[in-house]
Amino acid sequence: MNILLIGSGGREHALAWKIKQSLKTEKLYIAPGNAGTAAIGINVPIAATDFESLKKFVLTHAIAMVVVGPEDPLVKGIYDFFKDDAELSAIPVIGPSEEGARLEGSKSFAKAFMQRHGIPTAQYQRFTKETLTKGLTFLEFLQPPYVLKADGLAAGKGVLIINNLSEAQTELKAMLTGRFGKASETVLIEEFLSGIECSVFVLTDGNSYKILPEAKDYKRIGEGDTGPNTGGMGAVSPVSFATPEFMKKAEERIVIPTIEGLKKEAIVYKGFIFIGLINVQGNPMVIEYNCRLGDPETEVVMLRIKSDLIELFEGVAQGNLHEKSLVFDNRSAATVMLVSGGYPGDYEKGKPITGLDRISGSILFHAGTTVKDEQIVTNGGRVIAVSSYGKNKDEALQQSFRNCEIIHFDGMYYRKDIGFDV
Ligand code: AMP
Ligand code: GLY
Repeated sequence: MNILLIGSGGREHALAWKIKQSLKTEKLYIAPGNAGTAAIGINVPIAATDFESLKKFVLTHAIAMVVVGPEDPLVKGIYDFFKDDAELSAIPVIGPSEEGARLEGSKSFAKAFMQRHGIPTAQYQRFTKETLTKGLTFLEFLQPPYVLKADGLAAGKGVLIINNLSEAQTELKAMLTGRFGKASETVLIEEFLSGIECSVFVLTDGNSYKILPEAKDYKRIGEGDTGPNTGGMGAVSPVSFATPEFMKKAEERIVIPTIEGLKKEAIVYKGFIFIGLINVQGNPMVIEYNCRLGDPETEVVMLRIKSDLIELFEGVAQGNLHEKSLVFDNRSAATVMLVSGGYPGDYEKGKPITGLDRISGSILFHAGTTVKDEQIVTNGGRVIAVSSYGKNKDEALQQSFRNCEIIHFDGMYYRKDIGFDV
């Protein structure tokens, strides 16, 4: 079948790599894609949220399945756009409905959902401009650090963890008066949870589910998890503290109640659920839900799935996911992100990338690249994820680091301590 994959990052290149391996895949199109996806499929210059243009493309290119990578089109209702259109409704979209995507699009929706279904998560209160004074007082009764979260999507920047009370109060006021625009018209103040985090990915057809290999990502720019947050500097899978016992607790206390909760509330969900978990003294608690796969986690998770991904997606579309098998690759996988100098602050684009043709033993997933005058050049903050297998995490990481040294572009930076804490 012909497949249209939506998105343009490292996650989408990794998905494209896996989708391309399926015997069921005929033509693979990526909208809009990057220089990496162009090498394994056909890039289509349509933005991920331009639903009308996507519709025209799907109808003229006999697309039989749409796979959605990023959250933006999901939160904006791409699933419903297809379902509600007579010409498109028979074409499966792998991703949740607009309502299901609120698990990511609205943190207060997600929190209330978890409360209704007894899913372990941090205590919280929500505030708006009208209740600002109450919020300022509420902070005085809490112990630091203070966790402030913008309710809506804020490009990964909407969570602030602050040690000082008056600073937290100033930030609360700033958020409620437009710091993140509409996204922070409502702000959650949360109990601070202390523990190590990992990402758990669930694929569901709305009834049954499969738990994918877990992963851990590294968000801070600096080694030892220091400095500002980024989109993600690397990832490993498996995660040593996610033991069978821990994962069993996560399944019983979090995954099952989440799927059952969606069913009880008649929320249509046929796609990935990304559960950000924190290990609080051996007990998993939910930090957040996302309605998609993680980036750069996908760049290791895809390496660890042996099964045909399109078979699994067909199970999602047809509602018989329980009949499909999901087999893991028992090797370890690691990915190291090469980023532009200055990222996550200002950085330059258009730097020629060399060494790509001399890589062996790693898989390169492009995140922010494009082709200019037949040369692959940087086109984003995160540029390339260097992914490798190994007998264990260290071997996989060493393999990636060896190849990182072969690649070069002006200002290139990467963290040399990915996986240091597991
Ligand atoms: P989120 O966007 O909700 O994933 O939050 C971003 C990051 O902030 C998470 O990955 C955690 O590291 C941290 N964080 C969020 N909520 C809490 C919390 N309640 N306690 C401790 N850390 C948190
Ligand atoms: N790696 C975290 C995310 O994709 O949100």
